[in-house]
Amino acid sequence: MRKIVVFTGAGMSAESGIKTFRDSDGLWENHPVEDVATPQAWARNPRLVLDFYNARRKQMREVEPNKGHAALVELEKCFNVQIITQNVDNLHERAGSSSVLHLHGELDKVRSTRNPKLIFTPEHWEIKLGDVGEDGAQLRPHIVWFGEQVPMFDVAIDITQTADIMIVVGTSLVVYPAASLIEYVPANAPIFLIDPKAEPQSRRNIEIIRGTAAEELPEFVKKLISNEITSKNA
Ligand code: APR
Repeated sequence: MRKIVVFTGAGMSAESGIKTFRDSDGLWENHPVEDVATPQAWARNPRLVLDFYNARRKQMREVEPNKGHAALVELEKCFNVQIITQNVDNLHERAGSSSVLHLHGELDKVRSTRNPKLIFTPEHWEIKLGDVGEDGAQLRPHIVWFGEQVPMFDVAIDITQTADIMIVVGTSLVVYPAASLIEYVPANAPIFLIDPKAEPQSRRNIEIIRGTAAEELPEFVKKLISNEITSKNA
């Protein structure tokens, strides 16, 4: 089975009702996003950081996967599909995709501030100051903040290096190291980018499909399944 690696960003979930980062005004209740998604922010004002992620965790439970997520599930009938996502929501999993690697963490998980391996999924969306794990340490979101290592990046590289086809969906490709993933796609494997604001990338020859995930992916997946697009003809 040929392997399709799908690399997704915030645009993938936009039509489910989750705002992207850089399309919005980049603010959350008047705080720059960088001010609530860094280790410094956590040290300065953990309550604000918890509230930010509480709001997002609550919202995630209220929205549904869209037609783009569903199309990627359909693609599994004919291809070995591996999703690598920068998104912290669980919409790919809830749609039914079987292989999803989260580069930037997962909103529905929290972990101990003392032991990063002590990770669990709380039942309630709200985490408060004073909520502790088994080790008695304060819980924090299981999220990769700006300035932190991306522990899954090496795994993502390994997956990308064996792609026959790469589909990139809804990402501004400005946040590193995630954005450099396309450089690991084998030279003979075509790359497609689905994004309403996609720009040609100087790094690689990428075929651009300007449109939204929910509108373009179902059609594109049909073409892949009917072999109208192959790893050779791009
Ligand atoms: N369908 C497809 N793409 C869309 C849609 C849509 N309906 N709506 C918007 N987009 C595109 C935008 O044109 C933009 O290129 O989605 C992209 C969103 O870009 P960003 O907001 O920068 O999100 P992303 O690339 O995922 O950000 C990367 O930055 O903030 C950090 O850690 C966070 O994982 C995130 C990372």
